[in-house]
Amino acid sequence: MRFTHAILRVPGQHFAQGLSSAGEGPPDLERALEQHAAYADALRACGLQVEVLPADLDHPDSCFVEDPAIVTEAGALLTRPGAPSRLGEVVTLRPVLERYVGSVSSIEAPGLLDGGDVCDLGGRFLIGLSGRTNAEGAGQLSRWLEARGYQAETVDLADHPRLLHLKTGISAIDEGRVVTVPGFPAARLLDGMERIEVEAGEEYAANCIRVNDRVLVPAGYPRLTERLEGLGYQTLPLPMSEFRRMDGGLSCLSLRLSLRPG
Ligand code: GLY
Repeated sequence: MRFTHAILRVPGQHFAQGLSSAGEGPPDLERALEQHAAYADALRACGLQVEVLPADLDHPDSCFVEDPAIVTEAGALLTRPGAPSRLGEVVTLRPVLERYVGSVSSIEAPGLLDGGDVCDLGGRFLIGLSGRTNAEGAGQLSRWLEARGYQAETVDLADHPRLLHLKTGISAIDEGRVVTVPGFPAARLLDGMERIEVEAGEEYAANCIRVNDRVLVPAGYPRLTERLEGLGYQTLPLPMSEFRRMDGGLSCLSLRLSLRPG
């Protein structure tokens, strides 16, 4: 899929008050803003038109704009984020998404779903059942996807507490090729796919994103970067230290859209 647009939200003054289990200390806001600007520039270098939304000061995690929405070529859906402090993030996102794709659907209570738990393997979607996404939310999304001709399967993350979201542990970088953490759950769902397993110590880099002709990877994980380059990918390493402190990865920082002209 070729992406044409991306929606980002800049981290606000209260970024450090967001949710975190990383134990790496509070983020430096100035450095986070620099890293965010570099991320936006990287998406522009990949050919995307980038809209950076203003900070949402009521929601310190709202720069992780991937979680409150799912965008496919067949339409978009607002989620119902699983952390109570993030539930309201959908409110200001709705009119923005509607500008791009027209009307959007929603996950309804008691469903809970974070976009970080949804991995598109090329029309087949894996949905993680995590601390943020419940069976009801996954079921609502599955039905929405299936009604649009996609397939959906769930992956239980209950025994994988280090995976905040499904995409903490897997990234689709090509048709039939994924990057995963070692011991990725329900590996049978990846049968027939080529799996690039990150090495111990580089687990954070399993969250990388293919954007048109490049793969954006977090800076500082040279073994995965070398392997991807060896496979012929042009990588774009990006500093992510301040987002990592807040449990965020590369995919979390944008909603990527593929819009047809006109
Ligand atoms: N801090 C990102 C999240 O926990 O949702």
